[in-house]
Amino acid sequence: MKRTQPLFIANWKMHFTLRQSIAQAEALRAAWEDFPHARDAELVVCPSFDAIAAVADIFEGSGIMLGAQDMFWKDTGAYTGEVSGRMLGEIGCQYVILGHSERRRTVGEHDDMINLKVHAAIRNNIIPILCVGETYEERTGGRTDHVLARQVAAGLKDVQLSNHHHVYVAYEPVWVIGTGHAVTGADATHAAQVIAQALIDSHQAGMIGRSLHVIYGGSVDEMNIRSLLTSPLLAGSLIGTASLSHVRLMNIIRAVV
Ligand code: PGA
Repeated sequence: MKRTQPLFIANWKMHFTLRQSIAQAEALRAAWEDFPHARDAELVVCPSFDAIAAVADIFEGSGIMLGAQDMFWKDTGAYTGEVSGRMLGEIGCQYVILGHSERRRTVGEHDDMINLKVHAAIRNNIIPILCVGETYEERTGGRTDHVLARQVAAGLKDVQLSNHHHVYVAYEPVWVIGTGHAVTGADATHAAQVIAQALIDSHQAGMIGRSLHVIYGGSVDEMNIRSLLTSPLLAGSLIGTASLSHVRLMNIIRAVV
């Protein structure tokens, strides 16, 4: 299955309470329904776990899809505090962000755990969005390409894809997230090429653009989005700060479609 519309993923992180999430979701649904080109883009919103079910009710029938910001690698059992893909699937989550740098950094997630989560997502028919990206030290040390290739290979280890599966890899340079300063379009294009090559090395070349997709995230806004997505390899964007305003999020989508 080939996807042609760009995909926009709003990552609300831990910014909204349930009540705030509901208000945001209602405003976003209204804006999306007023948008004449909504059919030319795909929109996924990733609220915090507590708000997913309520936001799902609000988005029902709108075409806006739901994602989670993380999940556990087991489907059920004695795992205090965890949320499984089975649970997320039942409340309507179609996507899950995995291996975000904030989780790698703050709770010590590493490539092996992330790989288990990718497998669990696919097993539960949830589309994984695997985040990869270099830190500032890795970049200035000239190790960006190596880090990206390693994170892609490790995150997708032993993942078998068929034509009806989708996996997104989000290039998220750690050092620009939340700063308001994205990388250049040339940097995003170069990283997309490195990631695509890593995907070709671990999967079949023909899967790129069909089952395997690359997107960009990191200080995306309405001014820079077009220059960031110039590479035909980049199929969309993961948006944090700017997605907290439905007006800004819609302006980003409008800038592209
Ligand atoms: P940002 O966040 O848009 O605020 O940089 C992006 C992300 O963390 O996915």
